[in-house]
Amino acid sequence: MSDHKTIEERTMQAEREAQAIEEELDKISRGDLSYVGDPRLEKLSTENEKLKHRLVILENAIKAECSGSKTTAVKKEPKKRPNLITDVNSVEGNICLVDELKNIFEVAITSAYPDLEDPPVVITLSGNNPKFGDYQCNSAMAISQLLKAKNVKTNPREVANNILNKTPTSPFIERIEVAGAGFLNIYINKMMAEHILNCILRFGVKPPPVKREKIVVDFSSPNIAKEMHVGHLRSTIIGESICRILEFLGHDVLRINHLGDWGTQFGMLIAHLQDKFPDYKTHSPPISDLQAFYKESKKRFDEDEEFKKRAYACVVQLQSHQPDYISAWKLICDVSRQEFQKIYDRLDVSIIDRGESFYQDRMDVVVKQLKDAGYLEEDEGRLIMWGNPDKHEGIPLTVVKSDGGYTYDTSDMATIKQRVEEEKGDRFIYVTDAGQATHFVIIEACARRAGILKNNQKIEHVGFGVVLGEDKKKFKTRSGDTIKLIELLDEGLKRSMDKLVEKGRDKVLSPEELKQAQEAIAYGCIKYADLSHNRINDYIFSFDKMLDDKGNTAVYLLYALTRIRSIARTAQISQEQLKAEIEKSGFKFGHEAEWKLGKVLLRFPEIILKVSSDLYLHSLCEYLYEISSAFTEFYDKCYCVEKDKEGKIVKIIYERLMLCEITARVMEKCLDILGIKTVSKM
Ligand code: ARG
Repeated sequence: MSDHKTIEERTMQAEREAQAIEEELDKISRGDLSYVGDPRLEKLSTENEKLKHRLVILENAIKAECSGSKTTAVKKEPKKRPNLITDVNSVEGNICLVDELKNIFEVAITSAYPDLEDPPVVITLSGNNPKFGDYQCNSAMAISQLLKAKNVKTNPREVANNILNKTPTSPFIERIEVAGAGFLNIYINKMMAEHILNCILRFGVKPPPVKREKIVVDFSSPNIAKEMHVGHLRSTIIGESICRILEFLGHDVLRINHLGDWGTQFGMLIAHLQDKFPDYKTHSPPISDLQAFYKESKKRFDEDEEFKKRAYACVVQLQSHQPDYISAWKLICDVSRQEFQKIYDRLDVSIIDRGESFYQDRMDVVVKQLKDAGYLEEDEGRLIMWGNPDKHEGIPLTVVKSDGGYTYDTSDMATIKQRVEEEKGDRFIYVTDAGQATHFVIIEACARRAGILKNNQKIEHVGFGVVLGEDKKKFKTRSGDTIKLIELLDEGLKRSMDKLVEKGRDKVLSPEELKQAQEAIAYGCIKYADLSHNRINDYIFSFDKMLDDKGNTAVYLLYALTRIRSIARTAQISQEQLKAEIEKSGFKFGHEAEWKLGKVLLRFPEIILKVSSDLYLHSLCEYLYEISSAFTEFYDKCYCVEKDKEGKIVKIIYERLMLCEITARVMEKCLDILGIKTVSKM
């Protein structure tokens, strides 16, 4: 085990050397480098063979070491004893409390039971009863089972006591109690909690520290000339949020719109364009309704043999890059893109267009690579590739069609290669409907087989369910047509204005404020309704539900936030005054309800780390809702400003205003990650 790293380093070294030589050999075969008759050529070839051989040996050594462990990752580093934090002043507002608790108990458990391999370290929240502490360590039961299996006589309570005896003192823990069948109840040190919250007051809401990665997020990705449907809306909303959380953590995120902008449908579109607008090169044709245009051309294609032939000829012309055809294609793409952009602008989404056409040449390259390596098999005229050559399970990729054309599979093989090799990505995320899950499983298997994906690199498919109407059927208009997204957003705007007027807000807010509130509510609700459901499930699109100000909705949260923000305003305390108070005395806990709220706020880094790894945004929504519930409880029980009978302010409790401030900041950060705009008044 101790030698593990070196083997891996050696493998990488050999891999690099072999690759360098391979590249050189490749250049020679292309004629870029001339070594004809050069004795070095033979030397390079033997060298390369030797290195490849060494590579196989080293890789097998790693495999042998890792076998027995269930993880697929090749890397299994020897467990290091975690470094525990002892100095309060080294702690900042972004500390992940539960991770530190895990470290503390890992140290305790491994020193109590040094012979147990990988003992479970289970830390959970204690729930609502303060009798059970703030967190719990529930490892004793599992460890006791493990010991029994080794014929050691013990019980969970005894194990819990042994762990307790070995728990190092920590500035995070006030005390620990053994309770019930063998639970360890952990009480958090309030001074440490105050310190963390004061950091947030002084320096703002900061992300927990992580290793910076290059992350490619492929989302939205509608198809040119075709409908951008509600599925693409989901991909857009979820993808945007994923980018935001990863960017907040400091990652280098590449936001890619993998537009369907290349394919045989362009043949008929171009043929139709040539007929309808022969002077399209000098005058931009009014194809504002591209979908109608698409339908017309499809109709002709299906009914008119002559047209069909021409459409096919157009595909050939386009694929051989005839300038006229390229400009017709560009024109059609531009019209489509302008339509998509309207949606992105409204939803405040930023994304780089890089559609399938971008990979044209790269597809040739990857096909050659797969062919040369012998991965492609003939199948009724097509060239296919299996993820696992020994077990033909599921379906293979169709890499080349029988007519020599490429497919969605081919483009995704070229895409992953580009993202690994040119973008040097560390994570590859694809946000599409759950129906494409198998496609990405196969792409991953084939990319791994071809050596494009290495070791622990993987494809992360962020799948999501279908949007349903209130009748639980596929979301359609009353007349059964597919819903146009722009119209959906317009309807949202209308409904949100109705709601504001119903509450008489139009009489209180300025026209500018009213418009801001209208947009924040409309788009916020649509986004939140999507993100607050577990994405893998289908969800029912209902304006009535998402605009309800009592449930777990964006309106409710936005109201809650404006209310919190108004507390300091009614107390007539400016941000400057509050800042001065923070500098002077800082935040301190008083009432039990403050502690309850404070504990929720302290969990922010934990939630961020969880969501950024599993990419399930509903946990962040649940967290937001939890904050606002804890706040409501706090505000019911604790007044921040005391007034006399005449309504004159007689006392201001600054600590509580500070807690309001932290709550608002954490909520604002969460809403920002969800892509929801906040307003100061609504
Ligand atoms: N255009 C595809 C669709 O509408 C989504 C593309 C997703 N990205 C990818 N690299 N395959 O379903």
